[in-house]
Amino acid sequence: MRRNRDNQPDGMLPFEETSSVFKHDPELFTQTIYGGALGNLRIASLLSDLLPWIDARPDLTTILDLGAGHAPMTLELLKQRPNLRAILVDPSAELLRSAEERQASLGIPAASVERIVDSVPGVFPKLMRTRIDLILCHAVVNWVDEPVSFLHDLVDFCEATGADVSLVFGSTIGKALRFVRNGSLTEALNSAQTVVPQVPSLLGDHQVRPLDPDYVAYILHKRACRLHLKAGVRVFADLAPPGCMDNEHDLAKLAALERATRRRRSYWRLGQLVHFVFSSQFGLQGEMSAQLSLFDSSQLSSPDALPAPVTPEESFEAATAIE
Ligand SMILES: C[S@@+](CC[C@H](N)C(=O)[O-])C[C@H]1O[C@@H](n2cnc3c(N)ncnc32)[C@H](O)[C@@H]1O
Repeated sequence: MRRNRDNQPDGMLPFEETSSVFKHDPELFTQTIYGGALGNLRIASLLSDLLPWIDARPDLTTILDLGAGHAPMTLELLKQRPNLRAILVDPSAELLRSAEERQASLGIPAASVERIVDSVPGVFPKLMRTRIDLILCHAVVNWVDEPVSFLHDLVDFCEATGADVSLVFGSTIGKALRFVRNGSLTEALNSAQTVVPQVPSLLGDHQVRPLDPDYVAYILHKRACRLHLKAGVRVFADLAPPGCMDNEHDLAKLAALERATRRRRSYWRLGQLVHFVFSSQFGLQGEMSAQLSLFDSSQLSSPDALPAPVTPEESFEAATAIE
């Protein structure tokens, strides 16, 4: 097979360029991901996780949305809980402009939202003195060159600010199932065999890096983070025959199926996306648990402290051990 300069099969773009799809073709993203029933299901599922989390914390006022895009989730939260304010960060000025328009159309006051055109990790030092209670980082880690380093930077920032984190990432397992449904067996195998593969995304010929959910749980565990929630997003909907998406009764059943399964131990890993809510036990407000004595804390900030890369089997064993 011919390979291009990024050592990808011909026809696939080098990663740096594919990630810039959010700058040069923002509508491809908003329409493909949020233009239909799957987008609605994603919002509904994440809302059902986040609203109770927020409501249980009356002091929670400030959300930082990292890689916010056009910020559908954060703006929905602000619409439903007007006491919240948000900071949106994204390298795509175009998507942040869409967020601004959407905010106005939802009647959310201009003063409730700040927008920063920037990216992770460069933006972190600029936010160190800002109050942040909850960080949303949804479907961003799959679009960066070094997802594992990105996760470590995120945990460092979570430790420094004491904020909780709502992390959503595309999963290798969900991807593999979807590839099988589409007959792309080579891609399914690639997804299933690797903890951070590089595979075609839903956005044309752009690549994405799904992550093995157990590998992510394992990294967070090693960094002494406490995982509060594990849930799948779009557990079955992407596997349904296309006709179901145009039929109200089938859509209602798929939504019920999602609610019935997405937080259950036997199903959450199957989501196209996985949602983890975590906090650092080294965070400003966090308390060191007895668990920490298991680790040499001087090594916890260093990505090198992790044995890498692990296989899906090894990461599964490590993660199930802490379930
Ligand atoms: C798949 S979109 C997700 C957008 C939004 N979080 C959502 O869930 O709808 C990925 C977003 O990550 C942004 N992004 C890519 N690299 C980033 C980085 N290093 N730091 C922050 N955002 C980044 C892109 O511009 C894009 O808006």
